[in-house]
Order: sequence, then structure tokens, then C-alpha cells
Amino acid sequence: MSIHNILSKIDQNIGLNKQDIMSLLQSSDTDTQLLYEKADELRAKYMGNAVYLRGIVEFSNHCKKDCNYCGIRRSNSIVQRYRIPQEEIIMSCINMEKAGQTTVVLQSGEDPYYTKEKIQNLLVSIKKETNLAITLSAGVRSLNTYKYWKDAGMDRYLLRFETSSVELFQFCHPDETLQTRINALMNLKSIGVQTGSGFLIGLPGETLENLAEDILFTATLKLDMIGIGPFIPNEQTPFAEFNNPFDSEIYFKTISVIRLLNKKAHIPATTAFDAIQPEGRNLLLQRGANVFMPNATPQKYRVHYQLYPGKPCVDESIEDCASCVINRITNMGRSIGKDPGHSILGY
Ligand code: 5AD
Ligand code: FES
Repeated sequence: MSIHNILSKIDQNIGLNKQDIMSLLQSSDTDTQLLYEKADELRAKYMGNAVYLRGIVEFSNHCKKDCNYCGIRRSNSIVQRYRIPQEEIIMSCINMEKAGQTTVVLQSGEDPYYTKEKIQNLLVSIKKETNLAITLSAGVRSLNTYKYWKDAGMDRYLLRFETSSVELFQFCHPDETLQTRINALMNLKSIGVQTGSGFLIGLPGETLENLAEDILFTATLKLDMIGIGPFIPNEQTPFAEFNNPFDSEIYFKTISVIRLLNKKAHIPATTAFDAIQPEGRNLLLQRGANVFMPNATPQKYRVHYQLYPGKPCVDESIEDCASCVINRITNMGRSIGKDPGHSILGY
């Protein structure tokens, strides 16, 4: 089927099948441009011109899990572990709000030190000191814990499923099952927390068909937010020697296809895109994405939160990223979202 026929299915609200998605991922030259333009058009139509800023505070790099691709996995003894004291986290939030941002993303490894009460305390304090919306990303927890956090002010939660292939998931995660993550996502949705998920593009051994299946699976979840990014080999992990099987253009095409299938989802231009291509995040904002997550982790901790090499902004301060991002966005002719940028699903 030609690119025109596939894209016209979107206008007619006809779902794409695996074959259509694989054709889009394999497109080249002008066809790829048409895909990018369509994704940008849908982003403008459904999500508007504004780019929402969600400052990310990586508040702990302790992790009890051992994901084979991740730089802060438990078995990586080279990493210097940290937990940011609560007052410092709150200061970052206050500064973020002063810089015009409307959401804080609190991210950590799966750190058992952070009991449900400690996180509750953190959520309550941030809500007391600021008007920020709060997105939490701290791994798999029980339904009860998620409920408890929702009551304490948690607005949203991010938990990637990483890959929808049971075999590939097992190969990457020695201590977890895909079903556990999916159950956690279902639990979050069931209690009305705005839920974000997504996957890594190009895990070792992944095929184009796997990638198309991840895209289709993502759409079935009806997510409020979708975060995806390229797998980047980290030399301090068991996956050090694996190269990403795809060329970098596929990562961008994937984001565009995700926009075609999820018109009303918030899609961030994730940080890893700047690691694979300078200004990669800017390009994404013109190819379907509508959210930017500036690094708001106090500078001295940043270098220790390296899930993958080449992470941008490690030498910058919170203020550097906050002003850089405003330039990036206004130079593209886009505005900055003034409201919290909550989910528009169901409107
Ligand atoms: N390359 C790219 N992304 C990675 N993540 C973890 N390790 C890597 C890597 N080597 C991503 C995972 C996780 C998110 C917080 O970071 O998808 O969900
Ligand atoms: Fe951090 Fe540009 S976003 S320096």
C-alpha cells in the first residue's frame, strides 16, 4: 500500500495494521517527510502549538532491579549511589515553578528506602510548597501504594513496559515479568491516575516486526502519556556489546507513527534522542512530540544518573536547562504550555 493510502486511513479513522506500520517504518526520502508532516499536523490539531515543560528530578539512583541494559542496575558497582535530601528536591521544585514550568517528574530507581510513607511525605510537601502537577516514576508498586500516593497528590505515573515481546522482556529483565508491569499499568489506570508508558527501540535482537508490535500494543493501552526512546548500549552493563539493530531514522519514524495512532496522547521528546543526534529532541517536537522534560536534578547528582552514555545536560545546571529549553522552543515558533498539561483523553 502506498504512503498516501496508509495516511488517508488515519484521516478516515481506520486503524493501521502491522503491515502498514512496517511500511511506514521502512519508508524513505519524500515518503518519510510525508509521515513526519502528518504527525506534526495531528500534533498541532489535537495538542495545539504549546510545548509542555516537565522538569525531571532524578531523586535517587538506588535500584533493587537488574535490568540488563540499565546503567543504575543493582549489579553495577561502579555507580556512586545517592539520594537527594527532601529539602533539596523541594528547592528544585520551587525553582522550576519560578522558571514557568507546570509539572515536576520525580524519577528514581526502584529504591526500597522510599517506603510508601516517605514518598507520601514528599508528595504532600511539594503540593504544599508549589502548584506543580506531580508525575511519579518509581517502578512497580502495589495497587494500595499507588492509591495512597494518589490521595497524597500524585497526578500521573510513568512506567515503561520496555518491550511487548515476552521473550525479549525476559532476556532483558532477569528479575521481572512483562505481566507484572502490565498489571501495574492496569492498576494505575483503574484508580484514575494519568498513566504513561512506552518502550525502548532497538533492544538486542529486536526485529522490525517486534517494533511494529510494540507500537500496536502501546495503542491498545490507551495511554495518557507515551514515552519511548532508543536503546543505547551502556558499557557498565551486560548489554555493553550489543549494538542497536536499527538506523537512527527509525527512532524518529517510530515517534511519528505513535502520534498517528495516539492523537490525544502527550508525547515527550525524550532525553535519549539528544544522545543519538544533536538537537534530536527539537526534531521530535516537529515530528509528533509535544512535551519536553528539562533536567531539573541538582547538578552534583546528574553525573551519577547515567542510564546510558552520552546523556545530554550533565554539565549544565537547573537554570541552564530551564533557559535553554525556552530558547529551543521559542526558536521553533512554538509557545510554552501555561497550564499543567493534564491528559485530554476522554474530553
Ligand atoms: N538506553 C536507553 N534507555 C534506557 N533506559 C534505561 N537504560 C537505557 C539504555 N541503556 C530507559 C528505560 C527506563 C527509562 C527510565 O530509561 O526505558 O524505563
Ligand atoms: Fe539542558 Fe539544553 S536542555 S542544556
